Amino acid sequence: MKYQTQKGTVSAKAPSNIALVKYWGKRKNQLPANPSISLTLNNSYTETTIHFEQLTTPTDDFQFEFFFEDKPKPTFHPKITTFLKRIYEYMPFLKDFHLEIHSRNSFPHSSGIASSASSMAALSLCLMQMEKLLYPHLAEDETYWQKASVLARLGSGSACRSIQGKIVVWGKHTEIQGSSDKYGVVYPYKIHEIFNNFQDTILLIDKGQKQVSSSLGHDLMHDHPFAERRFEQAHENISKLIPIFENGDLDKFIEITESEALTLHAMMMTSTPYFILMKPNTLEVIQRIWRFREETKTPVCFTLDAGANVHVLYPNYCKNEVIQFIQKELVVYCENKQYICDHN
Ligand code: PMV
Repeated sequence: MKYQTQKGTVSAKAPSNIALVKYWGKRKNQLPANPSISLTLNNSYTETTIHFEQLTTPTDDFQFEFFFEDKPKPTFHPKITTFLKRIYEYMPFLKDFHLEIHSRNSFPHSSGIASSASSMAALSLCLMQMEKLLYPHLAEDETYWQKASVLARLGSGSACRSIQGKIVVWGKHTEIQGSSDKYGVVYPYKIHEIFNNFQDTILLIDKGQKQVSSSLGHDLMHDHPFAERRFEQAHENISKLIPIFENGDLDKFIEITESEALTLHAMMMTSTPYFILMKPNTLEVIQRIWRFREETKTPVCFTLDAGANVHVLYPNYCKNEVIQFIQKELVVYCENKQYICDHN
């Protein structure tokens, strides 16, 4: 096969994201069981570079090497092979090239922060650029970003929300124009300025390996007694967020955000087998956030992803007082007193 370019280098950076309405449960091909919505983060990201070179004798396998922070990481190969197999139908040139993939995260690795969203998004963006070098007529139009998001989704569901936009919806929702199960879309309606530069301070409660992977967690939603009602609830919560995003009602925002976080973990606690990813310090921190909010009326709340870490969410205007509160009362519950300041 003759390509426009036989050898080259592409690089991309993609952020992590934190879901407000959670994706938990999936169908075939990484399609979500319910729509989700997330804030895109800024300081937590992955940077990926691919050096590619056309093979003189392509085989039926994918030829690649993977380096994480400059060190070869063969343990990541199975995950990348699965990803390449899934996206091959969209990128049939992949078996004609050798890929040398280099990746690094801005956040401490093994921090318990899910890096799959940013890493799969960065890898997908690199492959999109590579495709563009091979087929220069391809334009960076809307379908380009949709395809990037489709690829990212096939790497890790939530990664499809890390391609473009500060607030992103993934999954078909009747009230979100253009929404799709296949890719994330930039939230298309009015957003109150209170949600600009919205703060997310990630408290690293437990940096250990999760006992249960998200893939297994998603699978357990198949025979889950509360699954159908939960999926409906996610639709309802997105509907409720539309006016909240418009009018900046933080009390209602807090109610939905915290309820979503606790529901996610309630699903884990009520699946078969059941499991708990929160740690005693997760609960301690949640209670202290509630007490602080009650006493000071500061609109601060929490969300959780599939782990023990707590994301403390609040508008930019109360940053100083919340950081002071975190330093005074919450850091003692973090492993090595570590936390990461981020925002959308
Ligand atoms: O993208 P996955 O398969 O790692 O699933 C992520 C699931 C949650 O982080 C718990 C929720 C979400 O919507 O991001």
